Amino acid sequence: MSPPAPVPLLVRDATLPDGRRGMQLLVEGGRIRALAPQLPEPAGAEVLDAQGWLLSPPFVDAHFHMDSVLSHGLPRVNVSGTLLEGIALWGELKPLLTEEAIAERALAYCDWAVARGLLAIRSHVDICDPRLLAVRALLEVKRRVAPYLQLQLVAFPQDGLLRSPAALANLVRALDLGVDVVGGIPHFERTMAEGAESVRLLCELAAERGLPVDMHCDESDDPLSRHVETLAFHTQRLGLQGRVTGSHLTSMHSMDSYYVSKLLPLMAEAGLQVVANPLINITLQGRHDSYPKRRGMTRVPELLAAGVNVAFGHDCVLDPWYSFGSACMLEVASMGLHVAQMTGSQAQRQCFDAVTTNAARVLGLEGYGLDVGCRADFVLLQAHSPEEALRLRAQRLAVVSGGVLVSRMAPAIAELALPGRPGHVDFTRQAAG
Ligand code: FE2
Repeated sequence: MSPPAPVPLLVRDATLPDGRRGMQLLVEGGRIRALAPQLPEPAGAEVLDAQGWLLSPPFVDAHFHMDSVLSHGLPRVNVSGTLLEGIALWGELKPLLTEEAIAERALAYCDWAVARGLLAIRSHVDICDPRLLAVRALLEVKRRVAPYLQLQLVAFPQDGLLRSPAALANLVRALDLGVDVVGGIPHFERTMAEGAESVRLLCELAAERGLPVDMHCDESDDPLSRHVETLAFHTQRLGLQGRVTGSHLTSMHSMDSYYVSKLLPLMAEAGLQVVANPLINITLQGRHDSYPKRRGMTRVPELLAAGVNVAFGHDCVLDPWYSFGSACMLEVASMGLHVAQMTGSQAQRQCFDAVTTNAARVLGLEGYGLDVGCRADFVLLQAHSPEEALRLRAQRLAVVSGGVLVSRMAPAIAELALPGRPGHVDFTRQAAG
């Protein structure tokens, strides 16, 4: 017997990201059926009073590693905090992993994600272990969370497609098991030539199978790491425009600007999508520098200005590479905003889009948004605008997935005991006028 259909849900008095206030939104059958300043309340409907707070489409994480999440300290901590020690540490941890432990940690993280209004995640999964433990565990997690969270998996050859002997065969097996996207790591291959060859092989594999591509690409401070050019070339050659994502692209931070002026239009022509990972880029790049230390994040404002879709990813939470994080995509966007100096009013909004609409485009999500007919997935934020949500990493007051209220959180309010001052503060400021 299938579960009973959820009752209609009426959201009252919501502010929308485009600034409309006092809006009502009706949800039926898991979809948004109506959106207007006034709507009749259907009989038996559940009512969510937004009290003027911001109703946003859910957060989307365009780049994550669910197989290593919450493994911090296993079997030891990353002493140097560097990318290379992180990769070595992951190599030490891999033989100790079990399918059950990976699934348990991933499910715990998905709980955090839901509570944070993060309802779609693209996760890379390492396929270099011939047992494919992580692949099997995350396919099971994907099935279990599907009623409330969309999890997309990328077959990721962490140890190198050509550098790791069975990686290509394992990657094909992972795709056969149902992994959604072809991954890669060309800058980690032994030579530039092998890196370029890995891009060709992986793009051809994706074209044959009709799958998207999302590669860790040029995650390096080396200005001559130019695999993104090869990725754009094969994307166009194979007609994969719009289906290919370059993740990290940190070498672009250090590239010669004349070369970048040629690269940007090439990427735009190829319909390449880009994911920057601000928290990880700012902590892992520039490690060989004395001073000045490079920030390492790719050229986000310039890519956006060239017409390239750019999203931000969390990349890691409590794992060999990063011992922080709590599934908060507003923290990710806020870091991106600071690192890229995107403090202008339009740029602030672009940073909010990078963890919502732009990230949804990277994942190719169907029915994403707050328009009539879209999936009834949204988050109510204790903020009056996207900019305020970024400033406060706003509390997620309510989260709705598929028309069902799946999480509630009390407002963040401090009770004050100061003579002649208000009794409480919540850190928000209603916009003037
Ligand atoms: Fe990554």
